[in-house]
Parts: sequence; structure tokens; C-alpha cells
Amino acid sequence: MPRPVPTTTLAGVEIFEGYLDRDTQEALVSDLRDVVAQAPLFAPKTRFGKEMSVRMTSAGRYGWFTDACGYRYIDAHPSGTSWPPIPKRILGIWRALASKEREPDCCLINFYGETAKMGLHQDRDEADFGWPVLSISLGDEALFRVGGTERGGKTQSIWLRSGDVVVMGGAARLVYHGIDRIKFGTSPLLSQGGRINLTLRVVD
Ligand code: SIN
Ligand code: FE2
Repeated sequence: MPRPVPTTTLAGVEIFEGYLDRDTQEALVSDLRDVVAQAPLFAPKTRFGKEMSVRMTSAGRYGWFTDACGYRYIDAHPSGTSWPPIPKRILGIWRALASKEREPDCCLINFYGETAKMGLHQDRDEADFGWPVLSISLGDEALFRVGGTERGGKTQSIWLRSGDVVVMGGAARLVYHGIDRIKFGTSPLLSQGGRINLTLRVVD
């Protein structure tokens, strides 16, 4: 299958709007319930001691983590339990849009409640920026902001909706990006509302 063409490109970031149909979105949520049952969501603290507004967990060989020691990948959930494997359906999306050569090591699962947001940042805790980062949006709409590769540059924004997939690769691998806010209750996918973002990355 040829690689699908993005519906929008923002500063080199590819956006595949509506890539996942409703049935697939529901199946993903069900896959994620199994992951979260094994590796519960937690509220990590930044190096500055501030609790993040998103709650998170991971699947894969590594999970992304932050505490007083800073941002890094760790090989087990903070409870000591191992990270569950990345669900097959999620790996299929990676193969179709990111790479057929290598699987991701980490699927970070971020849950955004009504007031959660994510400040502008680069994804740079990985060893090799040659591999793209792929992110999947499920649930409520979110205002995604994309800048350049330097802090403080001009930014552009787009609303991400349930089923949209974003790929940051090539020259756009290190762009600054973040979520300003979500529009709570705009998607029926999660019965309690909120948004899930899955971020797939090759780590080492
Ligand atoms: C992130 O960059 O870690 C999350 C992006 C998103 O929630 O869409
Ligand atoms: Fe990120």
C-alpha cells in the first residue's frame, strides 16, 4: 500500500485528518483500557516540582517519565510493574504512516481532562531524531500549536479531532508543539469526556 497523503501540513508537520474511523477509534479505546488496567494513569511532576495537568502511562519497552530528576524513559511503571506491550492495532498505524523498518519502543498515553493542557516543547529525550514521532488523537477536540525548531518563533494552530493522526518527522522532527486547551465534551467517544493522545516514538 502506498503511504497515504496528509490532508494538511503545518510547518512540515503532517496531519492526517479523520484517518481513523469510528469503529477503529472505539477498538483503540478498548485496547487502551487493558493497558491502563495493568499500568494505571499517574500524574507526573516536572523537574520543578509542578504536577502536570495531563495524566499518563505508557506501553512498550520504555515509558516516558518525569520527576525531580527530569525527563527520561524508564523501563517499568512507577509501581514496579512492567509496561504492557503496545497494542497490535496501534503498531499497524505506525507501520502505515511512520515506518515499516522499525517498531516504536514507547507508546505514551496522555489523558486530558477538562482543564488539562501541554506547554510548547520539543520531543527530544530520544537517541535518534531520524525516526519520526507519530501521535493519535482520540476523544475531545484539542487546539494543537506548532512552531519552528527554535523556541520563541512564530506558531500556527489547528484543532485536532478524534481519529486524526499527526506525524512529526524529517525537518519537522524537532518542532516545538503543545496543546493550548481541549474543548470538553465535543466528542462522544469517551463517555466521561476528555481526550486521549497516543505518542509513538523510537527511543534508543
Ligand atoms: C505531546 O506532544 O506530548 C502531546 C501532543 C498531543 O496531545 O496532541
Ligand atoms: Fe510532544
